Order: sequence, then C-alpha cells, then structure tokens
Amino acid sequence: EIVQELGSLHGVPLYKSFIEGWPRVKAFQARPDDVLISTYPKSGTTWLSEIMDMIYHDGDVEKCRRDAIYNRVPFLELKAPGEMSGIEQLESTPSPRLVKTHLPVQLLPTSFWEKDCKIIYMARNPKDVAISYYYFHRMAKIHQDPGTKAEFLENFMAGKVPYGSWYDHVRGWWEKKQEKQLLYLFYEDMKKDPRQEVQKILQFLGKELAEGIVDRILHHTSFQEMKKNPAANYETMLPILMDHSVSPFLRKGVSGDWKNHFTVAQNERFDQHYQKLMAGSDLHFQMEV
Ligand code: A3P
Repeated sequence: EIVQELGSLHGVPLYKSFIEGWPRVKAFQARPDDVLISTYPKSGTTWLSEIMDMIYHDGDVEKCRRDAIYNRVPFLELKAPGEMSGIEQLESTPSPRLVKTHLPVQLLPTSFWEKDCKIIYMARNPKDVAISYYYFHRMAKIHQDPGTKAEFLENFMAGKVPYGSWYDHVRGWWEKKQEKQLLYLFYEDMKKDPRQEVQKILQFLGKELAEGIVDRILHHTSFQEMKKNPAANYETMLPILMDHSVSPFLRKGVSGDWKNHFTVAQNERFDQHYQKLMAGSDLHFQMEV
C-alpha cells in the first residue's frame, strides 16, 4: 500500500511507516562533520540540497552525478518503498555527509546536538508552503486525498498535516539559533538574491569558492535548470511515488503564488490565525517578493 496513514509521534502527525522505524532514527549517530539541512516540507529542501551538494563538489556537476545514489542527500527519517532507508544510505556514505530532515526541533536525534553539527535551516512563508503542500499531497501518492484547497488550508492551520504545525516548526528552530551552530535562511531571500545567500552558506561552512564556481552553482541550481535536471526534479527517481502529470514536483518556484489561490476571506482568516500563533516572536516572513 503506497498511501500512508498518519500516526502521532510525541504529538506530531507523521507517516505511520516512519513512526515504525523511529527507534533507529532516534538512535542515529551523527558525525561531527555532518551538516544537517533542516526544513518544514515544501520550503525549498530540494533547492538547498542541490546548492549544498554543488558546494560540496566545488561546483562540479559531473562529480555530483558520480556520487549519486538515488537521491544525493538522504532524508534521515524516510524510506521509499524498494529503496534503502535514509539511515542505511547515510551509514554507507563517506564523510563529510549531508543529511536532510523535516523533523521539528524537539524530535531531532540528540546526537546532532552532542556532536555539535552545523545545521542549515530554510524557512518559507506559510501561505506559499500551504499551497505547495496541497499540490504535493495531490501528486505524491503516499498522501491521503487532501480534499479541497479550503479543507487543506484548515488542516494546515491546525497542524493536522505530516510533520505537524508549520508555526511550531519555524519557531522551534528559530529559538535554537540562540544556542547552536545554526544558519537560518529564508526561501524568499534565496529567490531575491541567491548569490548573497550562497555567500552566507559558504561563510557558515568556512569555505571559499572562486567567483566562477559560485556562478556555476547559481546557474545549475536555478529553477529552470533544476526543472530539467532528472537528478533534481524527482521525475525519474521515484516514479511509483509521484505523479508529475497531476502537478510537477518543481511546480512554480516563486514567492507569492498563494495570491492565485487564496480567497480574500481565506487570506484574512489566515492572517488572523498567523498573528495569534506567531505573537511574541521576532521571526518575520515576507509573504511575497
Ligand atoms: P512550489 O510548489 O511553490 O513551486 P521542497 O523541496 O521542500 O519539497 O520544496 C519544494 C518547493 O520548492 C516547490 O515549490 C518547488 O518548486 C520549489 N523549488 C525547488 N527548486 C527550486 C529552485 N531552484 N528555485 C525556486 N524554487 C524551487
């Protein structure tokens, strides 16, 4: 059965198959030179992973391809049917490893904190995340039918979606920034000025790359290039899991697409709810760029 029911892990809605494998995820042994890419789903995980992979390979596309398993940056907690689990892939990956996760901060295996790993978090404004997540529910076959857009929006606001509340996720990781090696990035900034954001990443990693290599990375990780890159667009990687004819994985890749989907009333309701849940936080999102 491809459709995954949701269970609850410490109050966070997650796929049941993932909850079954949780003990191994929880016990995962991070290495000090692991770098963790952390996101709420649909916030630019694949984009940031591609950028990181290119940085790690000094902008050499061929080297990236050679190192490919089925997905070059394994998801800590996930296992696709017929594939190795993320944990298995990671255990057979030589250092320095890149690791990807959608886990809320309180569920991250403690070993990442003990080993003081570098973490890069990328957040995206909730309206675009909600719309992107809706289309992802429709095209990725592990999900139950998301219902109408209006129904999905209610569930999103209530945190009744895989990985739970967006609001808790972005706030939880934001607060960790006070005490840990954590670079907190925004999808909207990456859209506006990718060069500047890549420089931030390089500085965080303590790495220098020649201008020409940065140019190559920016070109290779642009939406247009990634959309036609079979190693990045998921079209050949997980054909039984995704139906790109329903909605492509790399769907629009812009900020502010929510305006084509939210009604005025939905937007007002969403804003009110947002203000309530984000009150007291100094975390700010650009809803359009
Ligand atoms: P849209 O559905 O709004 O187009 P994730 O990788 O976390 O699942 O996020 C997927 C979202 O990131 C999709 O958003 C996808 O199009 C967008 N995305 C992926 N690569 C991108 C790129 N190079 N530039 C801009 N957006 C990108």
